[in-house]
Amino acid sequence: MNAKALAAEPDYAALVRQQCSIVVSENALKWDALRPARGTFDFEAADALLAFAEADRIKVRGHTLVWHRQLPGWFAAEASAGNARTMLGEHIDRVAGRYGGRMHSWDVVNEAVHLADGRPDGLRDSPWLRLIGEDYIEFAFLSARAADPQALLAYNDFGLESESADAQAKRLAVLLLLRRLKARHVPVDAVGIQAHLAAAAGERYGAGLRRFLADLRELDLQVFLTEMDVNDRSLAADAPARDAAVAAAYMSFLDVALSDPNVRVLMTWGLTNRHTWLNGENARVDHLPERALPFDEKLSPTEAFFAVRNSLDRRRHS
Ligand code: XIL
Repeated sequence: MNAKALAAEPDYAALVRQQCSIVVSENALKWDALRPARGTFDFEAADALLAFAEADRIKVRGHTLVWHRQLPGWFAAEASAGNARTMLGEHIDRVAGRYGGRMHSWDVVNEAVHLADGRPDGLRDSPWLRLIGEDYIEFAFLSARAADPQALLAYNDFGLESESADAQAKRLAVLLLLRRLKARHVPVDAVGIQAHLAAAAGERYGAGLRRFLADLRELDLQVFLTEMDVNDRSLAADAPARDAAVAAAYMSFLDVALSDPNVRVLMTWGLTNRHTWLNGENARVDHLPERALPFDEKLSPTEAFFAVRNSLDRRRHS
């Protein structure tokens, strides 16, 4: 959810209340939003978001305690191998502790696997890894459990969905990481599959994803679909064709993902095409607005909305 839009756009706030049983802050709980200076925390936007949700008994996910992106400007100069572990521990204690007992779940660690960095363990060469060492992941989960024993603790990542060789390799690396964590009794309860999909020829969902979901179930991990949207940047401008392709991607992915009973949460990254991050860093070259989400700019349901609804209905009846 977009904290600013909630306050400024009553029709958007009403749609969230009507459609969502669980929400997540798009940016308000990230380091750069919470920590304007090393010693200063600003919880205003996050507090407002929780108050909004709780007023209607909407559940809230926390996103995210550890990520290599959206670190504050001061971080690079002030974080060091000598202080990073303490800084991270204090951050988790302060942030997860503040909302203790009120969060459905936390994305404790976001996007820690990146095969392109070439490490044998598959871990991303992130500032946290460089400053703390590879056990920053374990440290973060233990700190989060201590700060909020009730929230489910998730590892969240992207690029895990398709049948491509890259996705297959990343699923394996993520599984290996989770197995290492489980073997060491690290308190990880769930995996967030971001599900940033593309409406493109050749994107397929199927056996690899199904196997991954079964492997996660065997590891006793719940699965959340945390950031679903469908990028149409590789398609020509024609709006009806884009809408059909976007809806087809939702359907093809969800028919596989929802066939696993262990998938407990389905969330899109944004609700309406009025505000989607895809128009920012992932914009189309022709600058047409993306048609990625279940509601259009005027807040009418899109074809994607009906695709999601139909997949959910098929699950209920199967
Ligand atoms: C995005 C936000 O939507 C943007 O507003 C921000 O500028 C960049 O981050 N994966 C994640 C999210 O885990 O935190 C990202 O959110 C989208 C990709």
